[in-house]
Amino acid sequence: MRTNVIRVLATAVLMAVLGASAALAATPPPAGDAKPVEKSRKDLTPMPEGWTALRQEEAIKQAHKQYPFVEDVLMEDLPLRQQRLRNMGIGYKDIKQSYILLDSPYVDTYEKQYDPVRFMHSKHAASLDGDCAACHHYRPADPNAPETVSCRSCHQDTRTDANTERIGLKAAYHMQCMNCHEQMKKGPVNCVGCHTKRSVDHKELVRLPENPKPQEVTAECLRCHQEAGDDMLATAHWLWRGPSPYTTEHRKSVMSGKGTTTLNNF
Ligand code: HEC
Ligand code: HEC
Ligand code: HEC
Ligand code: HEC
Ligand code: HEC
Repeated sequence: MRTNVIRVLATAVLMAVLGASAALAATPPPAGDAKPVEKSRKDLTPMPEGWTALRQEEAIKQAHKQYPFVEDVLMEDLPLRQQRLRNMGIGYKDIKQSYILLDSPYVDTYEKQYDPVRFMHSKHAASLDGDCAACHHYRPADPNAPETVSCRSCHQDTRTDANTERIGLKAAYHMQCMNCHEQMKKGPVNCVGCHTKRSVDHKELVRLPENPKPQEVTAECLRCHQEAGDDMLATAHWLWRGPSPYTTEHRKSVMSGKGTTTLNNF
């Protein structure tokens, strides 16, 4: 009986924590992706409620900007292009955004299910020693066009018989992002590393009295998430128990852990 109460209490704490980071909750990769979920920094920095990233509005606007299709491109050897960009002094100062949302209308097919891909532009350029040509591989033939043009101005529709010259935007991103991450063994290559699932807005779903008791919160979550609650109670995370090497007087003789009556559930 007592353990049951403790379990309910601990569930409430866990669910409250989950609630606070619901938007960031790690989601399992879609079926077919066998790679294990990588640890990401996101989990360590749950966002306060109502928080939005700096310049989020601006980033959303830019993500949805339509670009005119660039017909002619100047082909240039990558090392040559890198050298030329360096000679021209193109570098970090030309990067206005620290991050870019990649949420182009040219590719969105499941935009209601997944958040836009957040791409840390400055951080990438820094990790790659300012080598802009690593990603900005061609420039438009028009001499007045900026040196580093958005990928979307050249990669738009999927490759068709009529447009065999270059791959579509989704493929261009996936190929460039994932190939490099694979080669450098850095950065995510699994789907959820870049695509976070959009969570349902719980503001309207959850109904609680003012200053609810922890048990009331748990009960309210379980109203819809009974299965998740049951699953949790069967996990090793919940059931673990073991000897207690550091407990004074009872050293090693007492079993501690969540599977016992330990109150310290975190
Ligand atoms: C390194 C980052 C990265 C990884 C890993 C990644 N993607 Fe993407 N994905 C992107 C980017 C960037 C876009 C383009 C987003 C845009 O401009 O709308 C995209 C677009 C998509 C789209 C079309 C856009 C949409 O919202 O419907 C689908 C579908 C998609 N990815 C599926 C996957 C799947 C499945 C995996 C795992 C096999 C995966 N992606 C792994 C970065 C990534
Ligand atoms: C790891 C790949 C990568 C590197 C390295 C990189 N960029 Fe980018 N850059 C991108 C992507 C992806 C975008 C988003 C383009 C889009 O919206 O399709 C972008 C966008 C830009 C834009 C905005 C283009 C526009 O019209 O929206 C500028 C300017 C830019 N980069 C400059 C630079 C400069 C200067 C460097 C080198 C110091 C650099 N970039 C290095 C990938 C990269
Ligand atoms: C000025 C036009 C232009 C811009 C801007 C541009 N590309 Fe490309 N890209 C091309 C052309 C043309 C090809 C096809 C020729 C080729 O395969 O080399 C291509 C090919 C590719 C390929 C396939 C390469 C291969 O090995 O088959 C990838 C991946 C790619 N681009 C990614 C990107 C990304 C990501 C960006 C933005 C950071 C970008 N491109 C910006 C013109 C451009
Ligand atoms: C030329 C190589 C290269 C390309 C291309 C590249 N990345 Fe990365 N990426 C890296 C490296 C290196 C790191 C590790 C950076 C670090 O931890 O300092 C990284 C880390 C990341 C991370 C995790 C760290 C963070 O900044 O949040 C994400 C997410 C990511 N990349 C997304 C993308 C997306 C989306 C694209 C394509 C638009 C892309 N990357 C293209 C090299 C690349
Ligand atoms: C009225 C029903 C309802 C209530 C009450 C409710 N949820 Fe949800 N919750 C949903 C639905 C529907 C989804 C989206 C479907 C899914 O992912 O299973 C969801 C999704 C979630 C997710 C994301 C799961 C994922 O994989 O993306 C988390 C985390 C979550 N709920 C936590 C909570 C917590 C914590 C509480 C209590 C404070 C709670 N929910 C109360 C209906 C509810």
